[in-house]
Amino acid sequence: MCGIVGYVGPRQCVDLIVGGLRKLEYRGYDSAGVAVVGSSGLAVKRAKGKLQNLVNLLGESPLGGCTGIGHTRWATHGRPSDENAHPHSYGGVAVVHNGIIENHLELKEALTGRGHKFRSETDTEIFAHLVADALDAGARDLQAAVRTALQQVKGTYALAVISDKRPDEIVAAKNASPLVVGFGKGESFLASDVPAILEHTRDVVYLEEGELAVLTPGGITLFGKDGEPLARKPRRIEWSAVAAEKDGHKHFMHKEIWEQPRAVADTIRGRASLEQGDVTLDGMELPEDYAKGLERIVIVACGTSWHAGLSGRLMIETLARVPVEVELASEFRNRDPLVSEKVMCIAISQSGETADTLAAVKIAKARGAKAFSICNVVGSAISRECDGGTLFTRAGPEIGVASTKAFTTQLCGLYLLAVKLGRLRGALTAEKAREHLEALRLVPGWMESMIRQEAALMPIAKRCAAARDVLFLGRGGQFPVALEGALKLKEISYIHAEGYAAGEMKHGPIALIDEQMPVVVLATREPAYEKTLGNMEEVRARGGHVFAVVSEGDTHAASLAEVALTVPPAPPLLVPLLSIIPLQFLAYHVADLKGTDVDQPRNLAKSVTVE
Ligand code: F6R
Repeated sequence: MCGIVGYVGPRQCVDLIVGGLRKLEYRGYDSAGVAVVGSSGLAVKRAKGKLQNLVNLLGESPLGGCTGIGHTRWATHGRPSDENAHPHSYGGVAVVHNGIIENHLELKEALTGRGHKFRSETDTEIFAHLVADALDAGARDLQAAVRTALQQVKGTYALAVISDKRPDEIVAAKNASPLVVGFGKGESFLASDVPAILEHTRDVVYLEEGELAVLTPGGITLFGKDGEPLARKPRRIEWSAVAAEKDGHKHFMHKEIWEQPRAVADTIRGRASLEQGDVTLDGMELPEDYAKGLERIVIVACGTSWHAGLSGRLMIETLARVPVEVELASEFRNRDPLVSEKVMCIAISQSGETADTLAAVKIAKARGAKAFSICNVVGSAISRECDGGTLFTRAGPEIGVASTKAFTTQLCGLYLLAVKLGRLRGALTAEKAREHLEALRLVPGWMESMIRQEAALMPIAKRCAAARDVLFLGRGGQFPVALEGALKLKEISYIHAEGYAAGEMKHGPIALIDEQMPVVVLATREPAYEKTLGNMEEVRARGGHVFAVVSEGDTHAASLAEVALTVPPAPPLLVPLLSIIPLQFLAYHVADLKGTDVDQPRNLAKSVTVE
């Protein structure tokens, strides 16, 4: 995700930039850096780890200058290190970037051919080289040089560029990653997000896709996609600094639920090729022979990531026709599991640091399996341990302890992996794969429609907040969603909740149902869904309160519930990415109604590094 900050004006800017980065640490915190243009030209300081490491470095060797840019990093390409930290510089040009330059390998190769030397593993460094080249080739000014560079890159970006040849100027550009510019008196600011500059100005403009801004002490000029100057009035921000950090949301968890369409779109970007009907899994090494020779896949994970694994099993078995077992890492590691070199081990972990999952990976490897992972944190212990590589989800830092966007991006990663394995194993034709990928690309839009139904949930939330127990039922692909919905509710509202396979209700839980019991039923059109409708009737007959998530247009299923939310017509394998959203909102609103500490529930930690 990353955060960027920039300043140009009369003040010495380093402290101001570091102050802004501190407000953006929630966007990434594996390294940080600043670059300034001062009397002795361009100077850069960067440090791996928390922002404090950069502060210490600047304490030892201060930087001076009134034009500067800064960055706090959440790694996507290249592990966290001093060299991979931003700003990246070349030929008197420095750049900070949030996003992904998809064609960086191609560009790097061409630049290397022209004698350029690179110092990092990042996709961003090439941008400094491209701008410096354009300036050397006689670009009229920094803006023209940045435009020349932008014409060559494909991908997403919020970029800010400074050059020792234009000491009073920052050029910034945006495509898909957020960027806001702030207007001061005799000074100008930029940042990924408002909190970074709120202390200095409340008059801002959010850049739109394809727009560019030139910042000088005298003001900010905006340019549209077509290169023509834009006249846009700044908007006055009235939020408090604390509210601004959460982008106006009351809690990080709420913000993160809302971020899911963006997080999933980012996780797909550059990986799903509709033209080829195939998937590029950057970071994973999956030769065709290996995929064809697999006897079995073992997924190891904990908590929410384990639930993602259960959904992943269905995806992989359906699309790649290979048997999958999903193991709780804490159980797997404590027995003598049957694993060989024909078994692919896939660890799923948001943090990449969960001790049980890490131990399970080591055990699978010791028995000859190749280990792969789906992780959200580049450079994390699990991703380093996996010899087959890692597919990084691009959820960005998840601050709320209850996992939301990490779950849906894991499902997205598993779906991409299932299509890839299906292609490699000959279980999917290019045409079939294309259909699956086309559907995947529609998920962010479908997620928006789920988010729009948030208010309709409030009656259910009120009923659940007053309950002692809540039951969640789902069948087939919706069973893991029921488990995840129950986990979300119990961990943040402290209400006892259970997820059950709907078909198991008659084998026990039906005894719990009475007039006090809310039952949340995932009743989308899955195979055997008529039986789930039967479960709803059974709950109603015993006076229980049914709340349902149903397929759009299914008035019959909706009529069996007190409140029904609808899921757009996605293929069944993708429905969990959508049907989980109302359950996340439900847990959130119940907890909020009860006044619990939503983002930091009691007894829980974001990263469980103990056994
Ligand atoms: C629940 C939750 C936990 C984690 C579990 C595994 O909301 O966040 O259940 O899913 O501790 O963590 P990771 O995915 O970091 O391995």
